[in-house]
Amino acid sequence: MPRVLLLYSTVDGHTRGICERMSQTLDASGSRSTIQEITPSSAVDLDAFDAVVIGASIRYGKHRPEVTKFINANVAALQVMPAAFFSVNAVARKPEKKTPETNVYVRKFLQTITWKPKLVGIFAGRIDYPSYSLFDKYMIRLIMWITKGPTDVSGSYEFTDWDDVAAFCDAFATMIDER
Ligand SMILES: Cc1cc2nc3c(=O)[nH]c(=O)nc-3n(C[C@H](O)[C@H](O)[C@H](O)COP(=O)(O)O)c2cc1C
Repeated sequence: MPRVLLLYSTVDGHTRGICERMSQTLDASGSRSTIQEITPSSAVDLDAFDAVVIGASIRYGKHRPEVTKFINANVAALQVMPAAFFSVNAVARKPEKKTPETNVYVRKFLQTITWKPKLVGIFAGRIDYPSYSLFDKYMIRLIMWITKGPTDVSGSYEFTDWDDVAAFCDAFATMIDER
């Protein structure tokens, strides 16, 4: 049974939820997965795993610095094991903005790291206005207004296409099989 590590960086929990879905899907196809958060102080032992997925959300245009730090510290291992990256952001709800070439955050992010992931997923996230602080609520509302998204702050909107998540898992399971 391949041991798969699902690493995530989140603020509001949606990226962890995507990892939970991936874990169920991968385990159903014969893997044994572990989910772990990347924090500034987390210790991760990649040697204990056969494959790894790293997922991170976007907040104010960026993934968190600990994600870059982790990738840079582990690039040699990431380059040789089945390893994939995914990003979660609101802009990816637009079909024309969910590829590594067309999603501005991912395109720029991949330029800042030396790791070249063989599989990159870009998933639309969730906007849950009632749970945000006043500042965040109106900042994300402004971003939504600019990008023609929902601006009713009493609402919660999940944009994630779970079929995209399933397709990513299929592609990753194939990478594991071919290792
Ligand atoms: C304060 C705030 C800022 C955000 N900034 C961006 C942004 O700049 N671009 C974008 O596409 N999505 C942005 N988002 C949307 C998040 O990426 C989305 O809510 C995602 O699901 C968050 O995932 P998480 O819960 O794992 O942190 C923002 C969300 C919040 C609440």
